[in-house]
Amino acid sequence: MTEFPISGFREKETPFYYYDISLLKKTLDTIKRTSAYPGFKVHYALKANSNPELLRIISSYGLGADTVSAGEIRTAVDTGFPAAKIAFAGVGKTDAEIELAIKYGIGAMNVESLPELENIRDIACRLDICANVAIRVNPEIDAHTHHYITTGLAENKFGTLECDLEPMLRIIKDCDRLNFTGFHFHIGSQITTMEPFRILCERINKLQEKYSDMEIPTLNVGGGLGIDYDDPDLNPIPDFKGYFDTFARYLRLRPGQELHFELGRSIVAQCGSLISRVLYVKEGHQKKFVILDAGMTALIRPALYQAYHRIDNLTSESDKKAEYDVVGPICESSDTFGENIILPLTHRGDIIAIRSAGAYGETMASTYNSRPLPQTMFFDNF
Ligand code: LLP
Repeated sequence: MTEFPISGFREKETPFYYYDISLLKKTLDTIKRTSAYPGFKVHYALKANSNPELLRIISSYGLGADTVSAGEIRTAVDTGFPAAKIAFAGVGKTDAEIELAIKYGIGAMNVESLPELENIRDIACRLDICANVAIRVNPEIDAHTHHYITTGLAENKFGTLECDLEPMLRIIKDCDRLNFTGFHFHIGSQITTMEPFRILCERINKLQEKYSDMEIPTLNVGGGLGIDYDDPDLNPIPDFKGYFDTFARYLRLRPGQELHFELGRSIVAQCGSLISRVLYVKEGHQKKFVILDAGMTALIRPALYQAYHRIDNLTSESDKKAEYDVVGPICESSDTFGENIILPLTHRGDIIAIRSAGAYGETMASTYNSRPLPQTMFFDNF
Protein backbone atom coordinates (compact mmCIF):
# COMPACT_ATOMS: atom_id res chain seq x y z
CA MET A 1 0.00 0.00 0.00
CA THR A 2 1.46 3.34 -1.03
CA GLU A 3 1.97 5.66 1.93
CA PHE A 4 0.97 9.24 1.30
CA PRO A 5 2.53 12.06 3.36
CA ILE A 6 -0.90 13.52 4.06
CA SER A 7 0.15 16.28 6.47
CA GLY A 8 2.50 17.58 3.75
CA PHE A 9 -0.34 17.43 1.26
CA ARG A 10 -2.59 19.54 3.50
CA GLU A 11 -0.10 22.39 3.47
CA LYS A 12 0.37 22.43 -0.27
CA GLU A 13 -1.71 24.14 -2.88
CA THR A 14 -3.57 21.64 -5.07
CA PRO A 15 -3.69 20.14 -7.64
CA PHE A 16 -0.22 18.66 -7.98
CA TYR A 17 1.46 15.46 -9.10
CA TYR A 18 2.97 13.45 -6.29
CA TYR A 19 5.75 10.99 -7.09
CA ASP A 20 6.77 8.17 -4.79
CA ILE A 21 10.47 8.00 -5.58
CA SER A 22 11.08 4.90 -3.51
CA LEU A 23 8.53 3.02 -5.65
CA LEU A 24 10.21 4.31 -8.80
CA LYS A 25 13.56 3.03 -7.52
CA LYS A 26 12.10 -0.36 -6.59
CA THR A 27 10.60 -0.55 -10.08
CA LEU A 28 13.97 0.26 -11.65
CA ASP A 29 15.71 -2.31 -9.42
CA THR A 30 13.21 -4.91 -10.59
CA ILE A 31 13.85 -4.00 -14.24
CA LYS A 32 17.59 -4.32 -13.72
CA ARG A 33 17.21 -7.71 -12.11
CA THR A 34 14.70 -9.20 -14.53
CA SER A 35 16.25 -7.88 -17.76
CA ALA A 36 19.71 -9.26 -17.04
CA TYR A 37 19.83 -11.40 -20.20
CA PRO A 38 22.75 -11.09 -22.65
CA GLY A 39 22.16 -8.24 -25.10
CA PHE A 40 19.00 -6.89 -23.40
CA LYS A 41 19.03 -3.07 -23.14
CA VAL A 42 16.14 -1.14 -21.65
CA HIS A 43 15.26 2.37 -22.79
CA TYR A 44 12.75 4.67 -21.15
CA ALA A 45 10.11 6.34 -23.34
CA LEU A 46 10.16 10.00 -22.28
CA LYS A 47 6.69 10.62 -23.63
CA ALA A 48 5.27 8.85 -20.56
CA ASN A 49 6.75 11.41 -18.20
CA SER A 50 9.58 13.83 -18.88
CA ASN A 51 9.80 15.39 -15.42
CA PRO A 52 13.56 16.10 -15.05
CA GLU A 53 13.72 14.79 -11.44
CA LEU A 54 12.39 11.42 -12.56
CA LEU A 55 14.57 11.41 -15.67
CA ARG A 56 17.75 11.95 -13.66
CA ILE A 57 16.89 8.95 -11.49
CA ILE A 58 16.02 6.78 -14.49
CA SER A 59 19.21 7.70 -16.37
CA SER A 60 21.28 6.96 -13.24
CA TYR A 61 20.11 3.34 -13.49
CA GLY A 62 21.78 3.09 -16.89
CA LEU A 63 18.65 3.05 -19.03
CA GLY A 64 18.67 4.55 -22.53
CA ALA A 65 16.00 6.97 -23.77
CA ASP A 66 13.30 6.75 -26.41
CA THR A 67 12.40 10.21 -27.72
CA VAL A 68 9.91 11.60 -30.23
CA SER A 69 10.88 15.25 -30.66
CA ALA A 70 13.84 17.63 -30.57
CA GLY A 71 12.59 18.81 -27.18
CA GLU A 72 12.71 15.28 -25.77
CA ILE A 73 16.18 14.67 -27.25
CA ARG A 74 17.49 17.83 -25.54
CA THR A 75 15.78 16.95 -22.26
CA ALA A 76 17.21 13.42 -22.37
CA VAL A 77 20.74 14.72 -22.94
CA ASP A 78 20.32 17.36 -20.21
CA THR A 79 19.17 14.75 -17.67
CA GLY A 80 22.05 12.36 -18.15
CA PHE A 81 21.15 9.99 -20.98
CA PRO A 82 24.21 9.51 -23.26
CA ALA A 83 23.43 10.42 -26.89
CA ALA A 84 24.49 6.95 -28.05
CA LYS A 85 21.72 5.44 -25.91
CA ILE A 86 18.99 7.68 -27.33
CA ALA A 87 16.53 6.53 -29.99
CA PHE A 88 14.43 9.01 -31.93
CA ALA A 89 11.07 7.82 -33.25
CA GLY A 90 7.98 9.43 -34.74
CA VAL A 91 6.03 9.45 -37.99
CA GLY A 92 6.69 13.12 -38.73
CA LYS A 93 10.22 14.24 -37.95
CA THR A 94 10.99 17.75 -39.18
CA ASP A 95 14.22 18.63 -41.01
CA ALA A 96 15.40 20.63 -37.99
CA GLU A 97 14.79 17.64 -35.70
CA ILE A 98 16.63 15.25 -38.01
CA GLU A 99 19.55 17.64 -38.23
CA LEU A 100 19.71 17.96 -34.45
CA ALA A 101 19.56 14.17 -33.98
CA ILE A 102 22.38 13.63 -36.48
CA LYS A 103 24.54 16.33 -34.91
CA TYR A 104 24.02 14.85 -31.42
CA GLY A 105 25.07 11.45 -32.82
CA ILE A 106 22.11 9.66 -31.29
CA GLY A 107 22.03 5.86 -31.28
CA ALA A 108 19.22 5.33 -33.76
CA MET A 109 16.62 7.23 -35.70
CA ASN A 110 13.66 4.95 -36.19
CA VAL A 111 12.63 5.58 -39.77
CA GLU A 112 8.97 5.10 -40.58
CA SER A 113 8.71 5.55 -44.36
CA LEU A 114 10.58 5.73 -47.67
CA PRO A 115 10.21 9.53 -48.10
CA GLU A 116 11.46 10.06 -44.56
CA LEU A 117 14.51 7.88 -45.23
CA GLU A 118 15.30 9.83 -48.41
CA ASN A 119 15.10 13.05 -46.43
CA ILE A 120 17.40 11.73 -43.68
CA ARG A 121 19.86 10.57 -46.35
CA ASP A 122 19.89 14.01 -47.98
CA ILE A 123 20.38 15.80 -44.66
CA ALA A 124 23.17 13.40 -43.55
CA CYS A 125 24.96 13.89 -46.90
CA ARG A 126 24.61 17.69 -46.67
CA LEU A 127 26.00 17.68 -43.11
CA ASP A 128 28.56 15.06 -44.08
CA ILE A 129 27.84 13.17 -40.84
CA CYS A 130 26.83 9.53 -40.62
CA ALA A 131 23.26 8.98 -39.39
CA ASN A 132 22.30 5.83 -37.46
CA VAL A 133 19.03 4.56 -38.82
CA ALA A 134 16.72 1.71 -37.87
CA ILE A 135 13.62 0.85 -39.86
CA ARG A 136 10.34 0.68 -38.01
CA VAL A 137 8.48 -2.34 -39.28
CA ASN A 138 4.74 -2.54 -38.78
CA PRO A 139 4.34 -6.11 -37.50
CA GLU A 140 0.58 -6.23 -38.22
CA ILE A 141 -0.31 -7.60 -34.80
CA ASP A 142 -3.50 -6.76 -32.93
CA ALA A 143 -2.44 -5.96 -29.36
CA HIS A 144 -6.10 -5.96 -28.20
CA THR A 145 -5.76 -2.67 -26.40
CA HIS A 146 -7.65 0.62 -26.74
CA HIS A 147 -7.98 1.52 -30.44
CA TYR A 148 -6.27 4.89 -29.84
CA ILE A 149 -3.15 3.19 -28.52
CA THR A 150 -2.89 0.21 -30.86
CA THR A 151 -0.09 0.89 -33.27
CA GLY A 152 0.92 -2.37 -34.91
CA LEU A 153 -2.02 -3.01 -37.22
CA ALA A 154 -1.69 -2.77 -41.00
CA GLU A 155 -4.05 0.21 -41.19
CA ASN A 156 -2.16 2.24 -38.59
CA LYS A 157 -0.07 5.19 -39.73
CA PHE A 158 3.03 3.77 -38.04
CA GLY A 159 5.99 2.03 -39.62
CA THR A 160 6.62 0.30 -42.92
CA LEU A 161 5.00 -2.92 -44.03
CA GLU A 162 7.42 -5.80 -44.54
CA CYS A 163 6.55 -5.95 -48.24
CA ASP A 164 7.83 -2.36 -48.66
CA LEU A 165 11.21 -2.86 -46.97
CA GLU A 166 13.38 -3.68 -50.01
CA PRO A 167 13.67 -0.17 -51.52
CA MET A 168 14.48 1.26 -48.09
CA LEU A 169 17.22 -1.28 -47.44
CA ARG A 170 18.67 -0.52 -50.87
CA ILE A 171 18.87 3.21 -50.11
CA ILE A 172 20.71 2.50 -46.86
CA LYS A 173 23.12 0.11 -48.63
CA ASP A 174 23.87 2.64 -51.35
CA CYS A 175 24.66 5.54 -49.02
CA ASP A 176 27.78 5.63 -46.88
CA ARG A 177 26.27 8.36 -44.69
CA LEU A 178 23.60 5.95 -43.46
CA ASN A 179 24.48 3.33 -40.87
CA PHE A 180 21.86 0.58 -40.50
CA THR A 181 21.34 -0.27 -36.83
CA GLY A 182 18.45 -2.69 -37.17
CA PHE A 183 14.68 -3.09 -37.05
CA HIS A 184 12.23 -1.41 -34.70
CA PHE A 185 8.74 -2.59 -33.72
CA HIS A 186 6.03 -1.36 -31.39
CA ILE A 187 2.64 -3.06 -31.13
CA GLY A 188 0.72 -0.82 -28.75
CA SER A 189 0.42 0.27 -25.16
CA GLN A 190 -1.19 -0.99 -21.92
CA ILE A 191 -0.82 -4.63 -23.01
CA THR A 192 -1.62 -6.84 -20.04
CA THR A 193 -1.03 -10.35 -21.37
CA MET A 194 2.20 -11.75 -22.77
CA GLU A 195 0.55 -13.34 -25.81
CA PRO A 196 0.91 -10.30 -28.14
CA PHE A 197 4.61 -10.09 -27.21
CA ARG A 198 5.08 -13.80 -27.93
CA ILE A 199 3.45 -13.32 -31.35
CA LEU A 200 5.77 -10.35 -31.96
CA CYS A 201 8.77 -12.60 -31.21
CA GLU A 202 7.57 -15.10 -33.81
CA ARG A 203 7.09 -12.36 -36.39
CA ILE A 204 10.61 -11.10 -35.73
CA ASN A 205 12.09 -14.60 -35.94
CA LYS A 206 10.55 -14.97 -39.41
CA LEU A 207 11.88 -11.60 -40.50
CA GLN A 208 15.37 -12.51 -39.26
CA GLU A 209 15.20 -15.77 -41.23
CA LYS A 210 14.19 -13.87 -44.36
CA TYR A 211 17.16 -11.52 -43.97
CA SER A 212 19.59 -14.18 -42.77
CA ASP A 213 22.43 -12.84 -44.93
CA MET A 214 22.05 -9.29 -43.65
CA GLU A 215 23.74 -7.88 -40.58
CA ILE A 216 21.12 -6.70 -38.07
CA PRO A 217 23.00 -5.38 -35.03
CA THR A 218 19.92 -4.42 -33.01
CA LEU A 219 16.28 -5.34 -32.66
CA ASN A 220 14.03 -2.87 -30.85
CA VAL A 221 10.71 -4.27 -29.67
CA GLY A 222 9.21 -0.98 -28.45
CA GLY A 223 7.22 -0.64 -25.26
CA GLY A 224 3.70 -1.50 -24.26
CA LEU A 225 3.82 -3.48 -21.03
CA GLY A 226 0.63 -2.64 -19.11
CA ILE A 227 -0.02 -1.89 -15.46
CA ASP A 228 -2.81 -2.65 -12.97
CA TYR A 229 -5.02 0.44 -12.92
CA ASP A 230 -7.66 -1.39 -10.87
CA ASP A 231 -5.48 -2.23 -7.91
CA PRO A 232 -2.25 -0.22 -7.78
CA ASP A 233 -1.65 -1.19 -4.15
CA LEU A 234 -1.81 -4.91 -4.91
CA ASN A 235 0.37 -4.63 -8.04
CA PRO A 236 2.58 -1.56 -7.71
CA ILE A 237 5.27 -3.14 -9.92
CA PRO A 238 4.27 -4.65 -13.29
CA ASP A 239 5.21 -8.17 -14.35
CA PHE A 240 8.65 -7.35 -15.73
CA LYS A 241 9.84 -10.90 -15.14
CA GLY A 242 7.06 -12.36 -17.29
CA TYR A 243 7.74 -9.71 -19.92
CA PHE A 244 11.52 -10.12 -20.27
CA ASP A 245 11.27 -13.91 -19.89
CA THR A 246 8.86 -13.97 -22.85
CA PHE A 247 11.45 -12.34 -25.11
CA ALA A 248 14.28 -14.46 -23.71
CA ARG A 249 12.26 -17.59 -24.40
CA TYR A 250 10.67 -16.88 -27.78
CA LEU A 251 12.93 -14.44 -29.62
CA ARG A 252 15.92 -16.04 -31.33
CA LEU A 253 18.63 -13.41 -30.98
CA ARG A 254 21.71 -13.85 -33.12
CA PRO A 255 25.08 -14.08 -31.38
CA GLY A 256 26.11 -10.59 -30.24
CA GLN A 257 22.81 -9.06 -31.31
CA GLU A 258 21.24 -6.48 -28.98
CA LEU A 259 17.60 -6.43 -28.01
CA HIS A 260 16.26 -3.00 -27.09
CA PHE A 261 13.07 -2.25 -25.16
CA GLU A 262 11.47 1.17 -24.82
CA LEU A 263 9.12 1.09 -21.87
CA GLY A 264 7.20 4.12 -20.68
CA ARG A 265 4.03 3.46 -18.70
CA SER A 266 5.28 0.40 -16.83
CA ILE A 267 8.23 2.36 -15.39
CA VAL A 268 6.49 5.48 -14.10
CA ALA A 269 2.70 5.02 -13.96
CA GLN A 270 2.33 3.58 -10.47
CA CYS A 271 4.71 5.97 -8.72
CA GLY A 272 2.55 8.99 -9.60
CA SER A 273 -0.77 10.24 -8.26
CA LEU A 274 -2.65 13.41 -9.03
CA ILE A 275 -3.48 15.03 -5.69
CA SER A 276 -6.50 17.29 -5.59
CA ARG A 277 -8.88 18.92 -3.10
CA VAL A 278 -12.63 18.63 -2.98
CA LEU A 279 -14.09 22.04 -3.72
CA TYR A 280 -17.73 21.09 -3.26
CA VAL A 281 -19.98 18.09 -2.83
CA LYS A 282 -23.09 18.77 -4.86
CA GLU A 283 -26.16 16.70 -4.10
CA GLY A 284 -28.07 16.30 -7.36
CA HIS A 285 -31.47 14.65 -7.61
CA GLN A 286 -30.11 11.33 -8.77
CA LYS A 287 -26.42 11.66 -8.16
CA LYS A 288 -23.93 13.15 -5.80
CA PHE A 289 -21.01 14.98 -7.38
CA VAL A 290 -17.59 15.42 -5.87
CA ILE A 291 -16.19 18.51 -7.59
CA LEU A 292 -12.40 18.62 -7.55
CA ASP A 293 -9.97 21.46 -8.13
CA ALA A 294 -8.19 19.26 -10.73
CA GLY A 295 -9.72 18.65 -14.12
CA MET A 296 -8.94 17.20 -17.51
CA THR A 297 -6.27 19.87 -17.96
CA ALA A 298 -4.24 18.13 -15.25
CA LEU A 299 -5.05 14.54 -16.27
CA ILE A 300 -6.73 13.99 -19.63
CA ARG A 301 -6.72 10.18 -19.81
CA PRO A 302 -10.27 9.62 -18.47
CA ALA A 303 -11.70 12.27 -20.84
CA LEU A 304 -9.68 11.17 -23.85
CA TYR A 305 -9.66 7.38 -23.57
CA GLN A 306 -12.41 6.67 -21.02
CA ALA A 307 -9.47 5.43 -18.94
CA TYR A 308 -10.11 4.19 -15.42
CA HIS A 309 -7.96 5.53 -12.59
CA ARG A 310 -8.57 4.45 -9.03
CA ILE A 311 -9.74 7.32 -6.83
CA ASP A 312 -8.96 7.42 -3.09
CA ASN A 313 -10.15 9.87 -0.47
CA LEU A 314 -7.05 10.27 1.70
CA THR A 315 -8.57 12.33 4.50
CA SER A 316 -12.14 11.20 5.15
CA GLU A 317 -12.40 9.50 8.52
CA SER A 318 -15.95 8.30 8.00
CA ASP A 319 -16.67 4.59 7.96
CA LYS A 320 -19.86 5.25 6.01
CA LYS A 321 -19.68 5.07 2.24
CA ALA A 322 -21.55 6.77 -0.58
CA GLU A 323 -21.61 6.71 -4.37
CA TYR A 324 -20.31 9.75 -6.22
CA ASP A 325 -19.43 11.01 -9.66
CA VAL A 326 -16.00 12.55 -9.29
CA VAL A 327 -15.66 15.47 -11.67
CA GLY A 328 -13.38 18.36 -12.54
CA PRO A 329 -14.23 22.07 -12.70
CA ILE A 330 -14.04 22.46 -16.48
CA CYS A 331 -16.99 23.23 -18.71
CA GLU A 332 -16.90 19.92 -20.65
CA SER A 333 -19.06 16.90 -19.83
CA SER A 334 -16.08 14.64 -20.42
CA ASP A 335 -14.28 16.36 -17.53
CA THR A 336 -15.14 13.42 -15.29
CA PHE A 337 -12.66 11.23 -13.44
CA GLY A 338 -15.11 8.50 -12.53
CA GLU A 339 -18.82 7.73 -12.33
CA ASN A 340 -20.57 5.86 -9.53
CA ILE A 341 -17.42 5.66 -7.45
CA ILE A 342 -17.81 4.35 -3.92
CA LEU A 343 -15.92 6.55 -1.47
CA PRO A 344 -16.07 7.12 2.26
CA LEU A 345 -18.38 10.09 3.00
CA THR A 346 -16.64 12.98 1.30
CA HIS A 347 -16.64 16.65 2.25
CA ARG A 348 -15.34 19.97 1.04
CA GLY A 349 -11.61 20.18 1.74
CA ASP A 350 -10.94 16.42 1.59
CA ILE A 351 -7.80 15.39 -0.26
CA ILE A 352 -8.26 13.01 -3.16
CA ALA A 353 -5.60 10.90 -4.89
CA ILE A 354 -6.16 9.87 -8.49
CA ARG A 355 -3.88 6.90 -8.72
CA SER A 356 -1.58 5.39 -11.37
CA ALA A 357 -1.17 8.80 -12.95
CA GLY A 358 2.62 8.86 -13.31
CA ALA A 359 2.47 7.96 -17.01
CA TYR A 360 0.80 10.18 -19.61
CA GLY A 361 -0.47 12.45 -16.83
CA GLU A 362 1.87 15.38 -16.34
CA THR A 363 3.15 15.12 -19.92
CA MET A 364 -0.34 15.44 -21.40
CA ALA A 365 -1.45 18.31 -19.15
CA SER A 366 -2.58 21.52 -20.81
CA THR A 367 -3.31 25.13 -19.91
CA TYR A 368 -6.85 25.06 -21.35
CA ASN A 369 -8.99 27.73 -19.64
CA SER A 370 -5.70 29.47 -18.74
CA ARG A 371 -5.25 27.06 -15.87
CA PRO A 372 -1.66 26.70 -14.67
CA LEU A 373 0.12 23.39 -15.24
CA PRO A 374 0.05 21.22 -12.11
CA GLN A 375 2.99 21.46 -9.71
CA THR A 376 4.92 18.41 -8.51
CA MET A 377 5.93 16.95 -5.16
CA PHE A 378 8.41 14.15 -4.53
CA PHE A 379 8.69 11.80 -1.63
CA ASP A 380 11.59 9.46 -1.02
CA ASN A 381 11.39 7.57 2.22
CA PHE A 382 14.80 5.95 1.82
N1 LLP B 1 7.79 3.17 -28.25
C1 LLP B 1 6.95 3.71 -29.14
C2 LLP B 1 7.32 3.74 -30.56
C3 LLP B 1 5.71 4.23 -28.72
O1 LLP B 1 4.88 4.77 -29.62
C4 LLP B 1 5.35 4.19 -27.35
C5 LLP B 1 4.10 4.74 -26.87
C6 LLP B 1 6.28 3.62 -26.44
C7 LLP B 1 7.48 3.10 -26.93
C8 LLP B 1 6.00 3.51 -24.98
O2 LLP B 1 4.92 2.70 -24.76
P1 LLP B 1 4.49 2.28 -23.26
O3 LLP B 1 5.57 1.39 -22.68
O4 LLP B 1 4.32 3.53 -22.46
O5 LLP B 1 3.21 1.57 -23.45
N2 LLP B 1 -1.15 8.51 -24.16
C9 LLP B 1 -1.57 7.12 -24.14
C10 LLP B 1 -0.45 6.18 -24.47
C11 LLP B 1 0.18 6.45 -25.81
C12 LLP B 1 1.35 5.53 -26.10
C13 LLP B 1 2.05 5.98 -27.34
N3 LLP B 1 3.24 5.25 -27.65
C14 LLP B 1 -2.17 6.80 -22.78
O6 LLP B 1 -2.30 7.71 -21.96
O7 LLP B 1 -2.58 5.67 -22.53
